[in-house]
Amino acid sequence: MKNDIPTHVAIIMDGNGRWATRRGLKRSEGHYAGYKTLKKTALHILDKGVKYLSVFAFSTENFKRSKEEVDYLMNLFVTAFKSDQNFFIKNDIKVVFSGRKEPLSDEVYNVMKEIENETSNCKKTVFNVCLNYGGQAEIVDTTKKIVDLVEEGKLDINSLDTENYYHYLYNDLPPVDLLIRTSGEIRISNFMLYSISYAEIYFTTTCFPDFDEEEFDKALLDYQNRNITKGTVK
Ligand code: IPE
Ligand code: IPE
Ligand code: MG
Repeated sequence: MKNDIPTHVAIIMDGNGRWATRRGLKRSEGHYAGYKTLKKTALHILDKGVKYLSVFAFSTENFKRSKEEVDYLMNLFVTAFKSDQNFFIKNDIKVVFSGRKEPLSDEVYNVMKEIENETSNCKKTVFNVCLNYGGQAEIVDTTKKIVDLVEEGKLDINSLDTENYYHYLYNDLPPVDLLIRTSGEIRISNFMLYSISYAEIYFTTTCFPDFDEEEFDKALLDYQNRNITKGTVK
C-alpha cells in the first residue's frame, strides 16, 4: 500500500480546550487556534491528493457545553464561513455540511447554505463539515429519507444495499479510508458511524491546534505502512 493516498480522510478535531488551558488561555482561544490550524492543515491534506476531507466541528452533544462556549463557537462558524468564501473558491474546494438543522440559529444555518451555494461549482476537492452532527442521528435520518423515497415510488427497497446506502447519507461521499483523532482520546464519539466501517484509525496525543502539516504527514506515513487487506488474506 506504500505511497497510496487515501481518497477520504476524516478528522475528529479534539483537544482545543486542553491546548488552551495548558497555556493559561481561555478555551475559546483554543478554538480559535484550532480554526487557524484547520485552514493550513486542510489545504495541505487536499494538496497531497486527498479528494474528500471530513471534519468534526461540532457534535449534537456539544450543545450541552456552557452557553458562553457554544455562543463563541457559533460566532466563530459565522465569521469564518463568511470570511473564507474566497479561500474555498480560490482553491476549488466544494464545501458541504453534515448534520441536523435544529437547534442551529437561522444566522448560522444561512451562512452554511450560502457557502454551500457559493462553492457548489468547485470541482477539485470536497470539504465536509460535520456541524451539529451525530452518527446515530445520521443513520436514523437516512432511514427516514429512504422510507419517504420508497413511499413516493422513487426507490425500490429491494435495490438498497450496503454500497448504494452511501447515496442517502447526509452527503453522498465515499467510505472513509483514514480516520484521525487528536488529543489522546481513544473513542469514536458518534462520528460517521456508517462511513468508517473499514477505516484505518490513527490516534495521536497531539492536540488539534498543534496538528500541523508535519503531524498529518506522520499519520499518512503510518497509514501507508499498514497492510490493508479488508477481509482478504495477508
Ligand atoms: C474539540 O476540542 C472542539 C470541539 C468539540 C468543538 P474540545 O473543545 O473538545 O477540547 P477538549 O477536549 O476539551 O480539550
Ligand atoms: C468530539 O469531541 C466532537 C468534536 C471534535 C467536534 P468531544 O470532545 O466533544 O468528544 P467527547 O465528549 O470527548 O467524546
Ligand atoms: Mg474534547
